[in-house]
Amino acid sequence: MTRIAVIVGSTRTHRRADSVADWTVQTARKVAPEGVQVELVDLADFDLPVLDEPAPAMSGMVAHEHTKRWGQAIGSFDGFVFVTPEYNHGVPGPLKNAIDYLWHEWNDKAAGFVSYGTNGGVRAVEQLRQVAAELKLADVRAQVVLNVFTDFDYSGLDVTDPTIAGAFTPDEQHTADLTELLVEVTAWSRALAAVRDTAGAH
Ligand SMILES: Cc1cc2nc3c(=O)[nH]c(=O)nc-3n(C[C@H](O)[C@H](O)[C@H](O)COP(=O)(O)O)c2cc1C
Repeated sequence: MTRIAVIVGSTRTHRRADSVADWTVQTARKVAPEGVQVELVDLADFDLPVLDEPAPAMSGMVAHEHTKRWGQAIGSFDGFVFVTPEYNHGVPGPLKNAIDYLWHEWNDKAAGFVSYGTNGGVRAVEQLRQVAAELKLADVRAQVVLNVFTDFDYSGLDVTDPTIAGAFTPDEQHTADLTELLVEVTAWSRALAAVRDTAGAH
């Protein structure tokens, strides 16, 4: 069994992340290759403070229970799909903070990205691809890019209210893109299992 986590990169109340992550998990469970288990990992459930570990994650030293819990969750997966918005042309702070808590747990695994924003969230993903290199996390080419104006429906809603999320309306191309992404993440996660065995990693 290959275990893939869909990691929710926003922790805001009223976040669009809920509908995007839900669609990602439900669609992934339908289209993923055989032998793949897809699980939701919501940063909001881990309540991580701003990084407070005394030693860098690469050292392997862990002081806090919240880090152990987060590390055990991430360490149990073979690959990842990051669902991320773009904040100020970059990676959302809570997601980068959660990533920085760990190192070994990311090593020699595969990652794909589902992004959204007023411009598709692509700048956040370009940054995450740079971060992935340092984590020895192999990022796949396929990507789902969603636009908060055209992939959400605001009919009947008060669009002057900045807290409305709208109804998520992904189309067939997005399902096709997610299918390709899962094929790539699964193949690379499985191929890298041999590397993880050799390295004795999580
Ligand atoms: C702090 C903040 C900064 C944002 N900056 C950008 C941005 O630079 N580019 C963009 O496309 N959208 C930006 N947005 C819009 C978000 O992409 C959009 O609100 C999205 O729904 C945020 O994801 P969330 O609702 O899951 O938190 C920003 C939103 C927030 C809250």
